[in-house]
Amino acid sequence: MSFLAVSGYICTVIHDYTQSLMSWYRAYGRDLPWRGTRDAYAIWLSEIILQQTRVQQGEAYWHRFLERFPTVEALAAASEDEVLRLWQGLGYYSRARNLHAAAKQVVAAGGFPKTLEGIRALKGVGDYTAAAVASFAFDVDAAAVDGNVYRVLARHFGVETPINTTEGKREFTALATALLPSGQAAAFNQAMMDFGAVQCTPQRPSCLTCPVAETCVALRTGRVDDLPVKLRKTKVQERRLAYIYIRCKHETAIRRRPAGDIWQGLWEPVELSVLPTGLHGQLLAKDVKHVLTHRILYADFYFLEVTEKPSLSEGYIWVRESDLDDYAKPRLIERLLALVP
Ligand code: ADE
Repeated sequence: MSFLAVSGYICTVIHDYTQSLMSWYRAYGRDLPWRGTRDAYAIWLSEIILQQTRVQQGEAYWHRFLERFPTVEALAAASEDEVLRLWQGLGYYSRARNLHAAAKQVVAAGGFPKTLEGIRALKGVGDYTAAAVASFAFDVDAAAVDGNVYRVLARHFGVETPINTTEGKREFTALATALLPSGQAAAFNQAMMDFGAVQCTPQRPSCLTCPVAETCVALRTGRVDDLPVKLRKTKVQERRLAYIYIRCKHETAIRRRPAGDIWQGLWEPVELSVLPTGLHGQLLAKDVKHVLTHRILYADFYFLEVTEKPSLSEGYIWVRESDLDDYAKPRLIERLLALVP
């Protein structure tokens, strides 16, 4: 076969594959609220929330944020504390801080950027999010390659390059870009994403009803469960924490986490190690386990009621217990505070 015949064949295969996924999407795609808007701000907000949050939980937060901050100007004008409070429960708080900083960037620039590069320059926006926002809001021909897309492509085309390597990222992005039908990036990206989330799922994918099963390399070679390949990287670090909740005349001491560590900017009770010697608390919980992306935390939690405020190191403030809700706290701390008698 001549080169032209071969490339013509490849084009037909690619065309058929893409068309099959797009018609699958028209029939079975999810009806998600951010797909009904072309407002770049609302779309960007949805993508930041969905970076590490499931669609179902993210939806409620998306509505709440848009209600409180209907425009990027409103978000930029808010205090970081308010943004963090509204974010509370979603975890990965750097997303909220970046969101707020990016809103200020947008306002300073005089409006939401409309190009892939402009969107990519916003704080907290990586290659995936930039492509998603640019394609959904502005029809830019950019392939948004998220975990779903890696899986769908790795299986169908039998790609064994590990997805968490520079090479893998480049290869899968090139493949998705080759498949993307010009002018239809929004539908294509949503189709790939939904196909991965609904049909070609990580566990027990629905190969029996798959519209592209016939050409799926992984299915034909029995490797559906082995693809995509992911390299095991650094072991997660374990870390121990011990806190004491001190009650004194309906007040309690808390401090804001400093920069350069977990939970930057969020509030926590007193670290047991700063308690003046001679004071002892009552143990409320031991080895409470909490999993973060790169760490596993184990926390002990104590309770102490006193009539005189002990002197604590710098940074701690005394607040009324009834005002504790006004301070954004990590989820682990919320869990511990629920145990206070
Ligand atoms: N996950 C990330 N972005 C998404 C989107 N736009 N729709 C559904 N799931 C997503």
